[in-house]
Amino acid sequence: MIARLRSVSGCLLLIYVVTHLSNHALALWSLSLADAWLEWLSAVWRWPPVTVLLLTAFLVHLCMALHSLWRRRTWRMSRWEWAQLLLGLSIVPLGMTHVVGTRVAHELHGVYTNHFWVLWPMAADPWQNARQCALVIAVWLHACIGVHFWWRVKPWYPRVLPGLYAVALLLPAMALAGAGVGLGSVLAILDDPQRMQAALAATKPPSRDEVADLYFLSDLLKAAALGLVVLALGARQVRTVWLKRQQGVRLRYVAGPSVAVPQGLSLLEASHTMGVPHASLCGGRGRCSTCRVQLGGADVARLPTPSADEARVLDRLGTPPTVRLACQLRPPSGDYNVMLLLPPGAQPADAYRGTGVALGEERTMVIMFVDLRGFTALSEKRLPYDVVFLLNRYFRSVGQAVEQAGGRVDKFIGDGMMALFGLQAPPPLAARQALDAARRIGQALVELNASMATEFTTPLRIGIGLHIGPAVVGVLGHGPATGLTAIGDTVNTASRLESLSKDFGAQLLASQAVFDAAGWGGEPGGAHEVAVRGRTQPLAVRAVADVTTLPLS
Ligand code: FES
Repeated sequence: MIARLRSVSGCLLLIYVVTHLSNHALALWSLSLADAWLEWLSAVWRWPPVTVLLLTAFLVHLCMALHSLWRRRTWRMSRWEWAQLLLGLSIVPLGMTHVVGTRVAHELHGVYTNHFWVLWPMAADPWQNARQCALVIAVWLHACIGVHFWWRVKPWYPRVLPGLYAVALLLPAMALAGAGVGLGSVLAILDDPQRMQAALAATKPPSRDEVADLYFLSDLLKAAALGLVVLALGARQVRTVWLKRQQGVRLRYVAGPSVAVPQGLSLLEASHTMGVPHASLCGGRGRCSTCRVQLGGADVARLPTPSADEARVLDRLGTPPTVRLACQLRPPSGDYNVMLLLPPGAQPADAYRGTGVALGEERTMVIMFVDLRGFTALSEKRLPYDVVFLLNRYFRSVGQAVEQAGGRVDKFIGDGMMALFGLQAPPPLAARQALDAARRIGQALVELNASMATEFTTPLRIGIGLHIGPAVVGVLGHGPATGLTAIGDTVNTASRLESLSKDFGAQLLASQAVFDAAGWGGEPGGAHEVAVRGRTQPLAVRAVADVTTLPLS
């Protein structure tokens, strides 16, 4: 509910800001055009129901900000969260004089608040000018960060991002430029006493006493806003002290530290406070699901039930009851085991991806191992810089080949690579993807060798092992080195086939099962049987001397 109220009120305020800035931008063409558009806009925004809506949106947004200040248990936040908080707090002190001098002045004293009225004080006082520019920048950045954190996990966001970037840069730039041009026109008017008197009279200005009252009101409202912030921070402090006196919460992170934190922290806040890397793409707003954790331990039955919003996200993921959103869960005192289900570097594409795999699942996978032959001997004669440069070029080539074929690079080990096929594809497609990746790797190697022919007397050579079968897939590791991977006999066999490919003088040694799963008719390469450690039966394999000859899948 709180997240929704914040979003809806923020959206209404953003619409107001966009129309307001577009109005200033029109001054680039002419001040009278901007005034004409302002007349129209004022008719809409000053219509009583819209005024009430706008005021309500502002108050709700302010209350949400105070609530999140009060509720926040830790000041460990990302740079973006700090930026949004500080920019948000700066809006009232920067903008209150503008609001009181326009809208309130119109309502109380009937002032006609056209562009001359708004720009005139800025022409006379550079400080007001700077403050107004800072207000535009603060409001706009605050809104952009909010929108980015809200939308970044939506699947369509990357597509519209370039357009949004353009609007995010152009609109405030044009508004500030328009204000600058308008300021020039106002300065020209001020140079001519008669024009100035006429322009001023047209605004129906308030008396000196009324102006003083308006400034007093502005200062009063700023002080009230400041008082509310201080009150929220004070209440937060009292709550923190009180919570610290309560029994603590002990968290044992799987493949991580065991920590004790005060009651009242969300699990995500606990992770951040204790320096445990924890994904939170939406900044703890309960929207992205990337902070999800699986809980266990003696007191797990005492956990509060999920709120309606948290339950909605968890239902969408189809998770078991022991999986919760860390940003929404504030565990009572007790002992809990916590397993992070996504790596700290989770990407928007990981949001809402089913948790079955992350929790650990057996599924049919195609595993690929690729090794660069003779690289150790080659690197001995080279400078470290050259070795790193060459390996990175090679890794980029094979990594792109795997990704273009639909696989996922699991890890680079020394000069080797392990890749997974079948995380999102059924076994027949995964097998075709893996064979396609082998062909692409071969082509990439040909191109790499051609581009580095002057560097090496002998071309780079590779060995690839491929096997299909059941593997346990899950998120494994420790700290930042946590990630989705596969383990099991299939992985070991694929690694062994990669080593054996040397004995066959082949670029690829793949189990016959891979070709069978792929449903390839004219099977390439020679058929053999090999003994693999841990298997009682020999394994049927095919050795392909040149992977670029593999047919297109
Ligand atoms: S951080 Fe996004 S849902 Fe928890």
